[in-house]
Amino acid sequence: MAKTDEEIVSAFLQELEEEKKTFTGYKKIKSQWADFIKCDWVEHLDKPDFPLKDKVKIVEGLDLKSKVFGTYRSIFQYLRPLIKEVNEKENRPFKILEVAGGLGDLSIGLYGEFAKSKEGLKVQITGSDIVPGYIDLSAKKAAKKKYPVEFKIIDALDISKTETDQFDIVIALHSIHHFPALELFQLIKKSQVIAKYGLFAVDATQNIPNMMFMCFSAMLPTTFFLNGMYIHDAFISARKMHTRPFLRRLGVLAAPNAKVECAKLSIGLNYLRVDPRS
Ligand SMILES: C[S@@+](CC[C@H](N)C(=O)[O-])C[C@H]1O[C@@H](n2cnc3c(N)ncnc32)[C@H](O)[C@@H]1O
Repeated sequence: MAKTDEEIVSAFLQELEEEKKTFTGYKKIKSQWADFIKCDWVEHLDKPDFPLKDKVKIVEGLDLKSKVFGTYRSIFQYLRPLIKEVNEKENRPFKILEVAGGLGDLSIGLYGEFAKSKEGLKVQITGSDIVPGYIDLSAKKAAKKKYPVEFKIIDALDISKTETDQFDIVIALHSIHHFPALELFQLIKKSQVIAKYGLFAVDATQNIPNMMFMCFSAMLPTTFFLNGMYIHDAFISARKMHTRPFLRRLGVLAAPNAKVECAKLSIGLNYLRVDPRS
């Protein structure tokens, strides 16, 4: 009988635990540190009863950071060759679904980059999140800029409701640390069904300097607005980031026939790419 997702992921996590016992030296210290900082505290952004206006402020802080560090541009640069290829070979727009997109800033920022590029690249972008309030705000923001970006309420963990091959790629920014192993496994697996070119997820690097940087940058709004919610979420999310080896192996487990890549995208950010074209 075929194993369930729960059984597969549970065996994988058990295997990782067994492997850790064989580590020595620097590898052992690194693994012990990773275990020490991991926590299951809940970010304000993940609390259904946390006020929407405060969630919006936290996500706006992330958007500011993404703009300052050119994250939307880096993602555009990464996707550009694939989009060009699909536009030219298949003579149609490239269809992007952003999941867990918060206030839609990546979807809107990406559309802006395409519009600016003057290469005539054709894209169709759908932004989504599980919080309805974000979707209304995202749609208003896109309408103000006259960008034809659509926004929908979509649970990233239930994207299989979407038709097979309806999109070319599923993208996610600053979000996959919200999903523990089983949920992320399912997101990777489902993205291979609904998107012809799979998944491209970007999130912060899990290491001490980046953790310090995330907390330091959250101290600025914390001090300025005298509100601890920024540092609260930065500290917890820094502790929840998945490591590169973990992401790579989970990607292979969820999509054994796919090409899985996990590497640095830009300062402080890694990407996980799972492409069904092996
Ligand atoms: C840290 S925010 C990132 C927002 C945005 N991607 C950005 O970079 O500014 C994480 C987002 O994940 C969303 N989220 C968490 N669980 C989700 C789920 N199951 N489905 C869709 N969105 C989810 C939250 O509502 C939140 O907007």
